[in-house]
Amino acid sequence: MAPPVATETYTAPTQYTTLKLRGTPSEVPAAVLAAKVAPEPVPAAKPKSSQPELAEYTYARYLPAFNANEHYPPLEPFTHSDPGLRALAVSPNPEDPLPFLQSAESVTELTPELGTEVRGVDLSKLTSDGRDQLALLAARRGVLVFRDQGNFINAGGDAWLEWGKHFGRLHIHPTSGHPDGIPQIHLVYRDGQATFNYERSDRISSLVWHSDVSYELQPPGLTTLFLLSSPDTGGDTLYGSQVAALRHLSPPFVSFLRTLKAVHSGVEQANFSRSGKRGGVVRREPVEHVHPVVRRHPVTGEEALYVNSQFTTRIVGLKKEESDNLLNFLFDHVSKGGDFQARAKWARNTVVLWDNRICVHTPVVDFGPSGQRRHGCRITPQAERPAPAWDGLELSDNSLI
Ligand SMILES: [Fe+2]
Repeated sequence: MAPPVATETYTAPTQYTTLKLRGTPSEVPAAVLAAKVAPEPVPAAKPKSSQPELAEYTYARYLPAFNANEHYPPLEPFTHSDPGLRALAVSPNPEDPLPFLQSAESVTELTPELGTEVRGVDLSKLTSDGRDQLALLAARRGVLVFRDQGNFINAGGDAWLEWGKHFGRLHIHPTSGHPDGIPQIHLVYRDGQATFNYERSDRISSLVWHSDVSYELQPPGLTTLFLLSSPDTGGDTLYGSQVAALRHLSPPFVSFLRTLKAVHSGVEQANFSRSGKRGGVVRREPVEHVHPVVRRHPVTGEEALYVNSQFTTRIVGLKKEESDNLLNFLFDHVSKGGDFQARAKWARNTVVLWDNRICVHTPVVDFGPSGQRRHGCRITPQAERPAPAWDGLELSDNSLI
């Protein structure tokens, strides 16, 4: 497997937990046989409850691995070239059909405000132009659900990385599990006895509305998620449009929000892992960054609310009570926004993509009692530093944190 990204110093893992597969060598996936075997493995978390089934599990090579010795330096800024902008140059009119959908069997809007479901388009065969058009469609519709993507999913790790690199620099998650040797693939994983997700058992609801890793200086843009294994029912993903959420607010209030910036923090997520949960590793020190409360999408020009309940901790410049009440109001507004949400129901060979700049999302962990496995892969390209909707908002440094 190639090193992660050219802009980072990559320390090759030497002490990964190795999966203990039953069977003869000929029955063991080649990718697992090729993986480096540590001479002195360090203790690391893994989904123990699945071990008896590993030999039979088709996607055992993509189970989460956690290596306590895997560390990365801080991310460096980079220049993002947006694929949606390239497509916009040839397809500026939203009413015109995008060429990559010409062969589609069906294109269905999930809800008026958010989400489009597509059948009959094989993502694994998309050209470079087709991928750009897909990014443009995601910028316009927020969420895209593609069915029958067995070719894409079974193409495997190298193909997934090649796909993701088209849309931006691939992010390596600081705390989540990744397949052994593929740190750019963020894994979600839960079965009957173990979870390696960010899940809070002390909450009334399993919902945690968020925008992925918004604490980064350049948070992700077009994001791809698919499940290798899913429960028979449940485990859906809910999405919310931050464009529509903003539009539902009154003009004077939106004018005020445009003047604000907020702190997004990765500290709590890192502390969650440091407490021993989710595999217990922190590969990169947590960061905090200031982003505009209302950002402007670089392709559509649309304004979107950009705060989320998982990572946004306070509004810069407001008193604590003002900040807490304002953020809680916005989080409440988004979570209750059934008229600008969409629900992605997973099915075999489904791939969901979303523009992380204009959507929030949350898994629904309602399948726990079934004991069934939910195992997914996320490909997470980073995009531009969020641009404020109001040009007068100063974001030059983090000095106010
Ligand atoms: Fe997420």
